[in-house]
Amino acid sequence: MFENLKNPPPDSLLALIKAFQEDRRAGKIDLGVGVYRDDSGRTPVMRAVKEAERILLETQDTKAYLGPEGDVEFVEALQAIIVGHYAPNIRGLQTPGGSGALRLGAELIAAARPSSRVWIGAPTWPNHGPVFQAGSATVAWYRYFDVATQTIMFNEMMEALSTAGRGDVVLLHGSCHNPTGADLDLRQWTEIAGLVAERGLVPFIDQAYHGLGRGLDDDVAGLRVILDAADEALIAYSCDKNFGLYRDRTGALFVKAPNAERADIIANTMANLARPNWSMPPDHGAALVRIIFQSDDLLHSWSSELVDMCARIRDVRQAVAGIEPRLAFLVDQRGLFSNLALSASQVESLRSRHGVYMAPSGRINLAGMRISDAGRLVAALNDVGALNPTL
Ligand code: LMR
Repeated sequence: MFENLKNPPPDSLLALIKAFQEDRRAGKIDLGVGVYRDDSGRTPVMRAVKEAERILLETQDTKAYLGPEGDVEFVEALQAIIVGHYAPNIRGLQTPGGSGALRLGAELIAAARPSSRVWIGAPTWPNHGPVFQAGSATVAWYRYFDVATQTIMFNEMMEALSTAGRGDVVLLHGSCHNPTGADLDLRQWTEIAGLVAERGLVPFIDQAYHGLGRGLDDDVAGLRVILDAADEALIAYSCDKNFGLYRDRTGALFVKAPNAERADIIANTMANLARPNWSMPPDHGAALVRIIFQSDDLLHSWSSELVDMCARIRDVRQAVAGIEPRLAFLVDQRGLFSNLALSASQVESLRSRHGVYMAPSGRINLAGMRISDAGRLVAALNDVGALNPTL
């Protein structure tokens, strides 16, 4: 049976983790997978998470199943920081990470309306297309960003979405766009909200970096505008980056429905679709987030550490741009990533000659590097002829 299997190509992002670990050069720089590091190169367990783990260890007295919806208080707490406390007809379900939320959302769309297309802006996280396709959704593409000029192609995007049919889904990055760092501004969110309402489209917001762009409220301001305008919407939420819970696979899917009756049917359908997938979600990460939300002290500790992480990423952006004016656009972009206009051979030379690791697309994770590496990064980019003089 298995002789029919062909070796799949390695995942281009995940392969970087191993390649970087195996590189023995002392001055190597990891701009690959989207993981936050502090200025000493560590991905810390956040202080509030550590304390919540201590509390969990002391107080948890059973590991019996919670049910397919997961930790309900965790889901409610997240919903409150995403959409605010007054949010009728929204139902949420805990998922294994943001990827689980996207996959469940794709299956929900395919179950609800198989003819709907999911419109994805390019470039995007390389896993978006595969996740939606694996969830049996039909994918259509629109152009979001021009890497050569570092510009959001807003008019092109609006034109493409004007051809979308009623019930089609539009995937949008809530904040800290992956891979470009180029976020929509509020005027653009408002225009999209108008189009969504006018054409009966369904927004699907991928909120994977909440609080790592402009702050906890500002990072969901666009999402809230669009949620107000749309009768139906989906949100995939990840706690990987903003709680540093990467390997604990902690996330949730939220769906807004036009009325309570429909919302309850959606909640039951989500649980029903989760059952043959992961049956019930892993508990640990969600329990920690719940414990953090139950304590004013822990909540304060978490949000202030998040502010510090965000400030470090801005400092790295400023340090690199300060050395090389052709990279000034880095300062206007937000979150972990920017996408440099690099050829595959330039990316390869950066790795082989300079030990600088990045995704094959030229995406760089600025949160992966030390500020003191800024000069060496710019020198390496110059050495491989990577700095486009028109930028
Ligand atoms: C990334 O974009 O690097 C992260 O979200 C990790 C992943 O799963 O691809």
